[in-house]
Amino acid sequence: MNKLIAPSILAADFGNLQRDVEMVNNSDADWFHIDIMDGVFVPNISFGMPVLKAISNHAKKVIDVHLMIVDPDRYIKTFADLGANFLTVHYEACTHLHRTIQAIKNEGMKAGVALNPHTPISVLEDVINDLDLVCIMSVNPGFGGQSFIENTYKKVQQLKNLIEFSNASTLIEIDGGVTNKNANQLIEVGADVLVAGSYVFKSENPTETIADLKSICN
Ligand code: DX5
Ligand code: ZN
Repeated sequence: MNKLIAPSILAADFGNLQRDVEMVNNSDADWFHIDIMDGVFVPNISFGMPVLKAISNHAKKVIDVHLMIVDPDRYIKTFADLGANFLTVHYEACTHLHRTIQAIKNEGMKAGVALNPHTPISVLEDVINDLDLVCIMSVNPGFGGQSFIENTYKKVQQLKNLIEFSNASTLIEIDGGVTNKNANQLIEVGADVLVAGSYVFKSENPTETIADLKSICN
């Protein structure tokens, strides 16, 4: 399968949001990665529904929403209505994860689960066949621009083994600190989707940076 690049809008220039969304539309990127933070599950607040609506009004690619919020079940239908194609919740924020996954799918979206750096892959053994995507956090969630945690490679391998062993077709997404320095090795160990925020938007030429990442991966 072609490997996918998902620029994280958290690192975009919010004063020029439409410009940055159009840049992604016209680039080699595959998805828009949208981080929603509530200041409770993570120590930061990003943006909410009106901003997502503004993004999805202009976005011409898959919208991948990463919820870093407590009790995400409250907003599943809202995110479907706002145009999310993938909706990812955190394992650590869901008491009844299986129910939450089904609720996401019942709204017509693809279902993802994100794991914090300290959470082992094994907690997904009994839901892996229900999942369209697993997001392995390669930084502690809450902020862009952090350094990649090296233990991630091992987790990607473990998740890849679980997916193969279970005959699942789950995508492996990596989120946090992704650059041209780790992209290649991440793909080698089994990653399918690379999220990149600061590395793309803080670069001199984001379109070229996306193209470079895409060429490393394919
Ligand atoms: C972190 C977010 C990431 C973030 C990645 O909590 O989930 O998606 O935007 O940003 P970089 O690529 O700068 O680490
Ligand atoms: Zn994210």
